Amino acid sequence: MNENSPHCLADDIIAYLRFLSESGVKHVDCSPENIKRMEQWGKAFFPVRESLAVIRNEVENCRRCNLYKERRRTVFGAGDSKARLVFVGEAPGREEDIQGEPFVGDAGVLLTKIIEAMNLTRDQVYISNVVKCRPPNNRNPLPDEISACSKFLRRQLKVIRPEFICALGAVAARSILDVKAPISQLRGRFHTFMGIKVMPTYHPAALLRNPQLKRDVWEDVKKLMAGYESQV
Ligand code: URA
Repeated sequence: MNENSPHCLADDIIAYLRFLSESGVKHVDCSPENIKRMEQWGKAFFPVRESLAVIRNEVENCRRCNLYKERRRTVFGAGDSKARLVFVGEAPGREEDIQGEPFVGDAGVLLTKIIEAMNLTRDQVYISNVVKCRPPNNRNPLPDEISACSKFLRRQLKVIRPEFICALGAVAARSILDVKAPISQLRGRFHTFMGIKVMPTYHPAALLRNPQLKRDVWEDVKKLMAGYESQV
């Protein structure tokens, strides 16, 4: 599915209700007279279909939590909008906040190496985060920041429709899978979210602090590669 693909009716209805809600409308009048009136508005009055561009625009203007106050740039995501594999991290760090791109700091250099070890490039996958704005001093995102932002990730995934997600670290794995277990228990096996196979593994920043974890990550990545290559 790409930005021009057909969507199901439910998606159109939800997008239209979102458009009305953001325009300040509180109630929908379903009377035959009103429906007739709406038909006369013509297509120009109907909302833009869901696409990464629409979601990116909402993220750039988002003030759903306090993180907007200190951000320099929002970090939406980057890569192939039709990728079969999406990497999801925690939240932007200092370098990402400056550049507006995910995983461009030290952890990003390591993530790029992991992607290349899979015989892929950053352009062939999609990279994003659970939280799109930098938490001050790189602290962990708070539960209300995660819940304010996670609907953006869900919408991105609905547009991209990947077959695989690699959840990088505890924050990503727990928020995607809606569980509380430690990453050491979640990693190493496939879980399912929105029909997508999810492989949790350690965050690249954890590997920089503790290189011994690299062996486990390589085991997880091999399982991911085997799934990815067997489903061409
Ligand atoms: N860490 C993350 O979780 N995401 C980034 O984009 C950068 C560092």
